[in-house]
Amino acid sequence: MTSNDASTASTAPAGPGAAPVFAGDSTRAARKDEHVDLALDQRRDASGHNEFDDLDFVHQALDGVDTDRVDLGVSIAFAAGAQYAAGEWHWETPFYVNGMTGGTERTTRINRELAIAARETGLPMACGSVSVALDDPAAARGFAVIRDENPDGFVMANVGVGRPASDAPRAVELLGANALQVHVNAVQETAMPEGSRDFSSWLTSVEQLAAASPVPVIVKEVGFGLSRSALRHLSEIGVGIADVGGRGGTDFLKIENARRSAGEYAMLAGFGQSALASLLDAPRSAPTLLASGGVRSPFDVVKALAAGAQAVGVAGAFLAAIGHDGDPGGAERLIALITDWQARTRAVYALLGAVTRDELLHTDLILRGRLREFCADRGVDLSGLAQRSEAHRA
Ligand code: FNR
Repeated sequence: MTSNDASTASTAPAGPGAAPVFAGDSTRAARKDEHVDLALDQRRDASGHNEFDDLDFVHQALDGVDTDRVDLGVSIAFAAGAQYAAGEWHWETPFYVNGMTGGTERTTRINRELAIAARETGLPMACGSVSVALDDPAAARGFAVIRDENPDGFVMANVGVGRPASDAPRAVELLGANALQVHVNAVQETAMPEGSRDFSSWLTSVEQLAAASPVPVIVKEVGFGLSRSALRHLSEIGVGIADVGGRGGTDFLKIENARRSAGEYAMLAGFGQSALASLLDAPRSAPTLLASGGVRSPFDVVKALAAGAQAVGVAGAFLAAIGHDGDPGGAERLIALITDWQARTRAVYALLGAVTRDELLHTDLILRGRLREFCADRGVDLSGLAQRSEAHRA
């Protein structure tokens, strides 16, 4: 990543919309590799608990269904944009490979292994920020490899907010992408030694990137959540899809802080909202919701779907299966993992009595801990959530 990949490649602060002042690729390239190492290190240190553990389903002992009847397919609806009509995508599996990397030799190998696994399992896949390749064509191969390995798959390009609007069509063209992720990452930028310090025109920048995109835009956070107000803003500017990208998984505050000599931004630890908190906080007028951040298992996938996501993004857990260097066995390991996740997602649907993702919305949810406190203070109807099955039957 990052949003202002332009700013991070230069010494000049590049606010949104500012022309990138590109002073060589080495800082950015090194950061791509560092991000992979630091993200994988975090997986070793992870305590295991996150807010997905703060959501329980009420078990209904006699309401289960046959796994053979379960349909894992999901539809992702989007509103019309300046350059495309309203429509919807159909994905066979309710989870996808979220945006991570590309642009260096190592990350090209990782993207190749991720793309092979996505092709073999039918998963949609996003790449990491392509800005490095837009500024330096030599880095383009690290992204184009995704389309080469998966000519017919659903592929998402990725750029950071603050990039010029003309980057939207260029990013899409680079991968022949079906969608464009635009990431917003103010917390990461704040902690990043070379990060942006001016976030004042990000909403305008998102609007301009979305208007210039030939394919639907998905605005995503990178691990700090999207609030009710953020989702409303996105609706107002016509963004049809948002990935709430919440706290609790790969932690980019920690990653950037580890790149500082004094770790000054450790003070922000725990900042932001989890994916579940963001989903439950979402307004009625929200874009179509995707969720990511801290998804460790198929059970977490199902929890996010039951809380309102149409599909769920997974980054760190899939990267860990590929490994640091994208060795050739990486795709095989990830294919086995995804196949297992698909089977166990199906099993959990059956246990919960849901044939489809929409039927998960009739499950009863009990919240605990920090997730419950957040939702209570935000006026979420906790007892309504706990009795959804009865409201549905009534
Ligand atoms: C990321 N992520 C990310 N997101 C993005 O929009 N553009 C990017 O370039 C990157 N780069 C990146 C590198 C690496 C190594 C990782 C692991 C992740 C963020 C990612 O899409 C996701 O939002 C977070 O990682 C949280 O999800 P997980 O990892 O907890 O599943």
